[in-house]
Amino acid sequence: MTKPNAPLVRALSGEPCTPPPMWLMRQAGRYLPEYRAVRAEVPSFLDLCLDPVRAAEITLQPIRRYGFDAAILFSDILVIPYALGQQIAFVEGEGPRLEPITTDQDVARLDAGPAADRLAPISETVSRVVDALPPEIALIGFAGAPWTVASYMIEGRGSRDWDRARHFLIREPQAFVRLSDLVVRSTTDYLCRQIEAGADVVQLFESNAGVLSDDDFEIAVIAPTKAIVTAVKKAYPQIPVVGFPRCAGALIDRYVRGTGIDAVGLDTTVPLDWAAQQLQNQCPVQGNLDPLLLVEGGAKMRDRVDRIMAAFSKGPFVFNLGHGVIKTTPPEHVANLVALVRSWPDGEAWREE
Ligand code: CP3
Repeated sequence: MTKPNAPLVRALSGEPCTPPPMWLMRQAGRYLPEYRAVRAEVPSFLDLCLDPVRAAEITLQPIRRYGFDAAILFSDILVIPYALGQQIAFVEGEGPRLEPITTDQDVARLDAGPAADRLAPISETVSRVVDALPPEIALIGFAGAPWTVASYMIEGRGSRDWDRARHFLIREPQAFVRLSDLVVRSTTDYLCRQIEAGADVVQLFESNAGVLSDDDFEIAVIAPTKAIVTAVKKAYPQIPVVGFPRCAGALIDRYVRGTGIDAVGLDTTVPLDWAAQQLQNQCPVQGNLDPLLLVEGGAKMRDRVDRIMAAFSKGPFVFNLGHGVIKTTPPEHVANLVALVRSWPDGEAWREE
C-alpha cells in the first residue's frame, strides 16, 4: 500500500512541497562507515544484495543517520542478468564482470523461468524495510532501465562509449529486441513484486541513455521503457514511476513525453532554467546537484543548492544529486546538505560562518 501523505509521494504526485522531499542516489554505500562494516561481513557483493537481513539494514542506515524522506532499496541493477542466468561477478576495485552476450544463441540461452525465485530474497528485503520505516518515509524500489541492463549484458563490463553494445544493436537488431523484450518482462515482474512487498515508488535507472542516436534511443530506450511503465501502471496505477535518463541531452524531452513516466530524474548536465520551463510543467523533476559538490562541501555546494532550489521550488520537485554519492564524500557534508535543503532560503544553515 502506498503512503499518500509521505512528502515524496506528494511531490511525485504533482504537489509543490516546501521544503522539497529529499533523498540521494546511492545514499547507502561505501562513503558510510556503517555500510563498510556490513559489507566486510560478506565477500560477494551479489550475495549481499540477496541477503534480506543485511540488505534491509544497509537500506535503513542513511535514514537513521540523516532522516531522508525516502529509503531506496539496497540492491543493484545487475540482479536482472543474474536472475536470467547470465554469469556475473563484482570484482573488487574493477566493477561488474558478466559473460558477454555476443550472438543470438547467447540470448536464446537466457532463461526467465527461474528469475522470480532467484529474486525472491529482494522482496523479503522490501518487506523488512517497510516494517521498520516510519509512516512518512517512503520506500523506493528500483531496477535498471532496459538499455542500461542490456548494454551491460552485451558489453560484459562498464564502458565509456558502449561500442560493443551499440554495435550489437546495429548488427543484430532482432536479437537485440529479443534481449530487450526479455529484460522488459523480467524487470516488469521484478518491479511489481517490489510494489507487492511494499515499495511506494519505483525508479528506473537509465544510466547509459547518453550514447545513442535519436533513432536508436527510440528503439532501445523509449519503446522498452514505455512497455515497462505501461504494464506497471496497469497493475498499480497509484504507484509513481520515476525515470532517470542520465545524460540524454536534448532527448530527455522525448523521454518524458514518450515513456509515460510520472517524474523525471535530472543528471548534472541538465540546465536548470530550461528544465524548470520545459520539463517541470510536464511532470515533477528530481535532481540535480553535482555529486562532486557534495564531496567539496562548503560555500560552493551552498551556492549551487541555492540555485537549484530557486529554479525548482515553485513546482513539484524532489531534491537529489545528478548521479550517485561518490565514495570519498565526507559524511558530514551530507548532514550539511540536508540542513541546507530543509531550511532554505534563510534558516540557520544558510548563515555564513
Ligand atoms: O541508490 C542506492 O543507494 C541503492 C543501491 C544501488 C546500488 N547500485 C548499490 C551498489 C543502486 C540504485 C545501484 C544502481 C546501479 N548499479 C547503477 C545505476 C546508477 C548509476 O550509478 O549509474 C549501475 C550502472 C550499477 C552497476 C554497478 N553496480 C556498478 C558499475 C558497480 C561498480 C562500481 C562501484 O561503484 O563499485 C556496482 C556495485 C555497487 N552497487 C556498489 C553499491 C553500493 C559498490 C559495491 C561494493 O560495495 O563493493
